[in-house]
Amino acid sequence: MYTVDLRITGGKVYRRGKLTLMDIAVDDGRIVKLGRGSTMPRSDTTLKADGCIILPGVIDVHVHLRDENLSYKETFETGTLSAALGGVTTVLDMPNNDPPTVGKMASKNRMEKAKGRIYVNVGFYSFIPEDLEELRDTIDLGVSGFKLFLTDGYGLNPWNESMLLNAMDVIGEKSSILCVHCEDGRMIRERSSRIAIRDLRDYEMVRGKDVELSAVSYMLGLAGRVESKPNVHLCHITCSESVEMVSEAKAKGLKVSCEVTPHHILLDSSYMDRFGGLAFTLPLLRSSIDSSKLFDYAAAGFVDIVASDHAPHSLDEKICRNPAEVKPGFPCLEIMLPLIFTEIANGRISLDTVVKALCEKPAEIFRIDRRGFIEEGFHADLVILDPKRELTVNPELFVSKAKYSPFHGRRLRGRPTTTIVGGVVVIEDGELAVDKPTGRILRRMEGVLS
Ligand code: DOR
Ligand code: ZN
Ligand code: ZN
Repeated sequence: MYTVDLRITGGKVYRRGKLTLMDIAVDDGRIVKLGRGSTMPRSDTTLKADGCIILPGVIDVHVHLRDENLSYKETFETGTLSAALGGVTTVLDMPNNDPPTVGKMASKNRMEKAKGRIYVNVGFYSFIPEDLEELRDTIDLGVSGFKLFLTDGYGLNPWNESMLLNAMDVIGEKSSILCVHCEDGRMIRERSSRIAIRDLRDYEMVRGKDVELSAVSYMLGLAGRVESKPNVHLCHITCSESVEMVSEAKAKGLKVSCEVTPHHILLDSSYMDRFGGLAFTLPLLRSSIDSSKLFDYAAAGFVDIVASDHAPHSLDEKICRNPAEVKPGFPCLEIMLPLIFTEIANGRISLDTVVKALCEKPAEIFRIDRRGFIEEGFHADLVILDPKRELTVNPELFVSKAKYSPFHGRRLRGRPTTTIVGGVVVIEDGELAVDKPTGRILRRMEGVLS
């Protein structure tokens, strides 16, 4: 019998909805055999996973890796190493960078800058370029999808309906995907002219739930009018009413999906009182009623994807005195999996639903080829997690440059110990195990990201 590169033994493997004690043989970056005992090939290296569970590596479709002129907030190295430490093996990078990732050249430059500097697989979003030819070329380059801020972004004006409909038609025709930040910038602008932000909680008068609901309804309305039926993914929605609108649109046959973040389902607006600017994020944290309803919807399987919205900023940008200048967002990559896993241990959500939302659905919705599942022939992107190990969130220990978190001090259960990306053991027992970054740049060609 032939010898393979790696064999992982003694772990309970999550496959087809069940945990089963079996070994995983990995060769040339792929899972080549799943099974037990004498049917398994010999290997050069063996990893023991006794007492642990093995999940498909997490696919985080919403990450701000920064770098370039925002390297002071995060770099490709620190961001993707954070991912690997958190059991995340693929991330999709948001385009609100400096320079902004808009169009073919900017996307190509960013891919080139990231080459050789990433510890996990990375795909790249672009903003929607105004010119339709440029849009087609950007898709042909292999971007993972397009990001549209209904607040203020770069590229196409989101309120120019005919232009947006044309762009959506191209995105549908070419089997790409449109991801939308759902806050109605027109309402925000009008309210901002009347309401001054003197305290972080004043934001609630400007950017309440109604701002999100208006944006969701606008986007779903447009999606229903586009002949090519584009994939439309609503990022980080914050309330059950949005989930309900998405479910209705699905029932009408639209190709829509939605995502929630760990913070919008596990935290509420009172965290802004406790953590100040460190807990400021957009969309805002909502009331505890809203966040627990949203959690319940996610646990019931009505939410497609859980993603981190890892959004690092410098500490100065988070604790500045003027609340109107505090930057939104915080890091999450290193703790997302244990945060969610803890809720399995608490009996609030099933392992099945968690793996769907963190691994399987991201792979399906973003058409990420042969990832998100543990199957023979699939890429060996895996995380070994010790379900009994506990940890207390201590952001000072983050590898991310952003060493703060509104989850600071939270006790978690279930710790990712070892992360394997494309057959390479990148993290072993919580420590970096490679001497150089080996992650791959993923490109979406003809609708498939690989
Ligand atoms: O909290 C947020 N942070 N919301 C956004 O929309 C942007 C993001 C960022 O890039 O910092
Ligand atoms: Zn956003
Ligand atoms: Zn974001």
